[in-house]
Amino acid sequence: MVVAKVWVLKRRPVGEPTVEDFQLVDEELPPCGDGDVLVTAVYLSVDPYMRYRTRQVPLNTPMVGSQVSRVTESKNTKWPVGTYMVCYAGWRTHTVYTAKQLQEGSAEMISPLPDLQDLPKSLSLGAVGMPGNTAYFGLLELCKPQAGETVLVNAAAGAVGSIVVQIAKLKGCRVIASAGSQDKCAWVKQLGADHVFNYKTKSVSEALKELAPEGVHCYFDNVGGQFSLEALPHMTDFGRVALCGAISTYNHEDKGILKADSPYSPMLMISKQLRVEGFIVLRWQSRWMDGLNQLKQWVVEGKVKYRETVTEGFNNMPQAFIGLFHGDNIGKAIVSV
Ligand SMILES: NC(=O)c1ccc[n+]([C@@H]2O[C@H](COP(=O)([O-])OP(=O)(O)OC[C@H]3O[C@@H](n4cnc5c(N)ncnc54)[C@H](OP(=O)(O)O)[C@@H]3O)[C@@H](O)[C@H]2O)c1
Repeated sequence: MVVAKVWVLKRRPVGEPTVEDFQLVDEELPPCGDGDVLVTAVYLSVDPYMRYRTRQVPLNTPMVGSQVSRVTESKNTKWPVGTYMVCYAGWRTHTVYTAKQLQEGSAEMISPLPDLQDLPKSLSLGAVGMPGNTAYFGLLELCKPQAGETVLVNAAAGAVGSIVVQIAKLKGCRVIASAGSQDKCAWVKQLGADHVFNYKTKSVSEALKELAPEGVHCYFDNVGGQFSLEALPHMTDFGRVALCGAISTYNHEDKGILKADSPYSPMLMISKQLRVEGFIVLRWQSRWMDGLNQLKQWVVEGKVKYRETVTEGFNNMPQAFIGLFHGDNIGKAIVSV
């Protein structure tokens, strides 16, 4: 019998999550029946949205999330032992999937690993995975950046932001980026950003006054809150905002719900005739593989570079997750088992 290690949500975090909000438990798995497979996690993803899910996941049930896993026992000819998949199995080391769950389009969101050639398999959780597609579709579909325009992106050394920077450069834009440390800023500059500032040592208003005197055409917002409050007055007329995330508010008890003093003030949006659109990347599910194929090609050609911050050990899942709110990661935060 296989016993999976599983991280369950023990209590709802108040403010910043702590290790004590989670508990590591054993779970006995059923044997593989006809058509079933047993998969073993190789890489797990920690993502900011999981903070939101800590408000929804029933207590004492597994934390949700994606992983790259390897089929280690199979009674299903479509998934022989040794094949890899990306699946939404949650924070767990082993999972048995039934034949029904393995069907395309099931709630388990199981897909074969894209053909990454010699690239690390973990990329399918990052640059050639959900965060990559978030950057790709969010920027291109919502901001529609034109060559010569100025694009602003925050959390630019992160999984999504680092790809936004590079796609904007590929489209011929002038990129202003921000990140929370000198090291991160140096890396984002290497990625091709024209200007990078550390928002912890320079105010957003000051930076944009200096770097975008003619205004920002496209703002890819990962951070929200004070950053947006200061950035939005620097938008050009008819500027476009892709509202991707608001990580600066995720630990707030008001859940970041817009208040009267929200950065997205109606008068500002009206007077500048801004187009502000929130999105969830799954809206482009039907074009998912188009995005991944393009991202993979750019990575293979060296046009898109990536970094990963890998935390060793399944036991350290909560620490890796919490680290996202301290800026511990450069590039995609991954846990390797
Ligand atoms: N809409 C969608 O479908 C979708 C999909 C994926 C991700 N997202 C959102 O995109 C954003 C980035 O996600 P990611 O996966 O790429 O994460 P990430 O940027 O790799 O990691 C989070 C980064 O956010 C920054 N950060 C943390 N707390 C902050 C705060 N209080 N103020 C400002 N910056 C803070 C830190 O970088 P610094 O050191 O630079 O501060 C940290 O490294 C998140 O808001 C996430 O929720 C949305």
